[in-house]
Amino acid sequence: MAGSIPRTFIDDLLSRVDIVDVIDARVTLKKAGKSFKACCPFHNEKTPSFTVSREKQFYYCFGCSAGGSAIRFLMDYDRMEFVEAVEELAKLVGVEVPYEGSRPRATLQSGNSTKPLYALMDKLAQFYTLQLRQHPQKETAVAYLKSRGLSGQTAKIFEIGFAPPGWNNLEKHLAGEAEAVTQLVQTGMSIKKDSGQIYDRFRERIMFPIRDKRGRVIAFGGRIINDGTPKYLNSPETEIFHKGREVYGLYYLLKKPGSIQKVMVVEGYMDVISLYNHGVDNAVATLGTAISETHVQLLVKHTHEIIYCFDGDIAGRKAAWRALEASLPSVKDGIQFKFMFLPDGEDPDTMVSRVGKAKFIALQNQAKPLSDFVIEYLLEQSDYQTIDGQARLVELAKPIMTQLPQGAYAQLLSARLAEHVEMSENDLYARFFPNSRSNVQKFHADKVAKAEKPSVIRLAIAMLLERPSIAERLDIPNNLSELQMPGVDLLSQMLVFIKGNPNVTTGALLEYWHGTREGAYLLKILHWEHHVPEEGVETEFKGAIDILYREIKDQRLAKLLTQSKVSPLSGDEKGELARLLSE
Ligand code: GTP
Ligand code: MN
Repeated sequence: MAGSIPRTFIDDLLSRVDIVDVIDARVTLKKAGKSFKACCPFHNEKTPSFTVSREKQFYYCFGCSAGGSAIRFLMDYDRMEFVEAVEELAKLVGVEVPYEGSRPRATLQSGNSTKPLYALMDKLAQFYTLQLRQHPQKETAVAYLKSRGLSGQTAKIFEIGFAPPGWNNLEKHLAGEAEAVTQLVQTGMSIKKDSGQIYDRFRERIMFPIRDKRGRVIAFGGRIINDGTPKYLNSPETEIFHKGREVYGLYYLLKKPGSIQKVMVVEGYMDVISLYNHGVDNAVATLGTAISETHVQLLVKHTHEIIYCFDGDIAGRKAAWRALEASLPSVKDGIQFKFMFLPDGEDPDTMVSRVGKAKFIALQNQAKPLSDFVIEYLLEQSDYQTIDGQARLVELAKPIMTQLPQGAYAQLLSARLAEHVEMSENDLYARFFPNSRSNVQKFHADKVAKAEKPSVIRLAIAMLLERPSIAERLDIPNNLSELQMPGVDLLSQMLVFIKGNPNVTTGALLEYWHGTREGAYLLKILHWEHHVPEEGVETEFKGAIDILYREIKDQRLAKLLTQSKVSPLSGDEKGELARLLSE
């Protein structure tokens, strides 16, 4: 969560800023009753379901369930890191962020020490694009780009440039700037020799600036003109560039108006550019690495559908399987993952050049859903006609299945798998989730139970989340957490938190639990209409706590009675029992 910024500071900060001002500066809000409304900036909609509450200091979208505090809004909307968002809000209300111990890495990155590096990279991007237009030896580069069919417009959008021949172009270009040499080395744009002299990393290459999602140039990729090795050269890892966390092309996608319906992930940035050149403008690429969980998490913040595009050969299918493994943790968030395989010898660039936009998009639309790919791939890997093969199939499936959240989707995959092995759907499911309520009936029973009357605890949590102040005046049993009831831990943690932080808002509560299972539960509860009228909330809440009080006593009473049958109670215990019985 907060890293080394004290929790209390964050709570205090959230009580000082006004989320309405923060959001209104970015998305125009309209007053609607007690709250404010707008069309949701996180998904495409025509009627506003994005709500901001000044009283509760949180935002919530009834359409896409995005929601949270002012910090969360800045993180999602301005794509800031947590620490950056806190810094931004602190600036707004004119307070200094205190750090415990040393400053976390994230601040160093966004703080002053890296600012000049971004400025330098930006300047270099301009330098390279200018060279493509002006340099006396630009012709081979221009001819090469033409031979690849790229239009001037595409080159402009992706800011394609040219690193001229020569070993010291950058230093010369920056001549006279005090920190130039250090910064060129720091950004990996120049390499330092033992003698202390520096030389340009990129020479005689087509240059592609790599921007992060906020649009800052953080690295470059350089392709050799025509043939040679290495074909591509990328910036090394630096303070501002971590290729495991960056996706090429995301910035250009995010710049387009409206929300992103689907994103296609390809292997090369030249593919992204070529696709765009042909009118397919939803592709991104990793930077020479396999797609990781971090990459997936970055993408699912901005889209609901991800299509992986790979070669149809064995290597391509293996890579697709790795992409699948990286995606499993995000399946629960309602994101669709699909897999598209190209014919042998094609990559997205050659494919779209050959078949054109319409056919390519048609292929995209025929991509395999994740479940189809899982089943197909598993079947390819094992000879399921034999009992041995079936056992192997189940073993191969296990690490995949167990990463899925228990429930409908895992059940569906079990059913699909059961068509190929001599095991029932339920037995398979139980095999994957041995501790679960494992069969279909239970699964359905669960759904029915959920639709039933809400539990006292759920109701109490909902009311508390909505109006944290109701806990301040109440006497709360301090042994609440002894209760054996689902949700009781969260409820007592909330109570402790509120008692320790008077004036805490709904937004601050959401922030505190953000990113945890409890946080997801709180967001869901916020969405839920519990039908307790505004003026009844305090009384209802008191009633709920009374019920819990009684429950604690009943549980304690039952325990003492059971115990007394086994061995004599102590004097104290007898006293307690008598008191409990008389109440
Ligand atoms: P073109 O040959 O220009 O069409 O490129 P491509 O997009 O077809 O590239 P390829 O499939 O060969 O490579 C995909 C990605 O892998 C590239 O975008 C690079 O990020 C990376 N890559 C390819 N070749 C090299 C290399 O020689 N060195 C490094 N470091 N990365 C490479
Ligand atoms: Mn290619």
